[in-house]
Amino acid sequence: MDDFGRAPAGIDPSVPSVARMYDYYLGGKDNFPADREAAEKMLVIGRQMGNDGREIARENRGFLGRAVRHLAQSGVTQFIDIGAGLPTQENVHQVAQRHAPGSRVVYVDNDPVVLVHARALLADNPDTVVLSGDLRDPGAVFDEPVVRAHIDFTRPFAVLLVSVLHFVTDDDAADRIVADIRERLVPGGHLVLSHIYKGDVEEEVVEASERVYSATSSGGLAGRSLTRISSYFDGLEMLEPGLVPVQAWRPDVPWDVPVQPGRSGILGAVGRKL
Ligand SMILES: C[S@@+](CC[C@H](N)C(=O)[O-])C[C@H]1O[C@@H](n2cnc3c(N)ncnc32)[C@H](O)[C@@H]1O
Repeated sequence: MDDFGRAPAGIDPSVPSVARMYDYYLGGKDNFPADREAAEKMLVIGRQMGNDGREIARENRGFLGRAVRHLAQSGVTQFIDIGAGLPTQENVHQVAQRHAPGSRVVYVDNDPVVLVHARALLADNPDTVVLSGDLRDPGAVFDEPVVRAHIDFTRPFAVLLVSVLHFVTDDDAADRIVADIRERLVPGGHLVLSHIYKGDVEEEVVEASERVYSATSSGGLAGRSLTRISSYFDGLEMLEPGLVPVQAWRPDVPWDVPVQPGRSGILGAVGRKL
């Protein structure tokens, strides 16, 4: 939006956008009343599950940052971030380029507002490109000339699907997408993935959250089971500590809250192609 809070041309601010709702959870300013209203409904539903939606969003960002830092420190210098979100603090290129200068980053998102903001932020960063693309068609993303020019697919690269796959509500489609992406990784490449875990939340609460998201830009939301989220790493070597609540993935400050089975939230893991 511009300095007067107006939406860029071609964007309907009355339809809540999952990118702008997430911006609102994180305390950002790039959101409109419809986004805030939908996000507030979700925060209420989250509280019914004993969750603080804002904290979960921050923890998800923390996982993203720690995973990218780990990979950059381990020598990975190429990142494709699909469902990148609106620029916020500690974006992938900032973390990666701090720990591995010259790291190349491709940001992909299907939300036009994300593209406007990301392009403005990255205009003078030659190692980073922003692309309009859809996770549901990985082939189109990977075959995009700008991606082929920016990423050397013969060297290890990481694909980030952080808090985005749950917007693909069809289970078979989600399986196919992740299998396609895993297939494209070369040895030493990584998949960084976080996903809403539905836990043993009551069905009516799940339905209430689905109703909110069905009226957004994503058209829906699918929290999934531990088994299904684990299966996204089939054939990859899962880095320690495996698939865990995002706040428990290599925390900077020891996280000694016991993992409660069945507790909903966001799970995350990093898998490596051998
Ligand atoms: C919850 S935000 C996550 C942002 C960031 N990955 C993070 O975890 O901090 C989800 C992002 O995924 C994007 N998104 C949703 N469905 C998508 C799709 N099918 N293809 C590409 N991006 C998508 C949204 O526009 C939004 O920016």
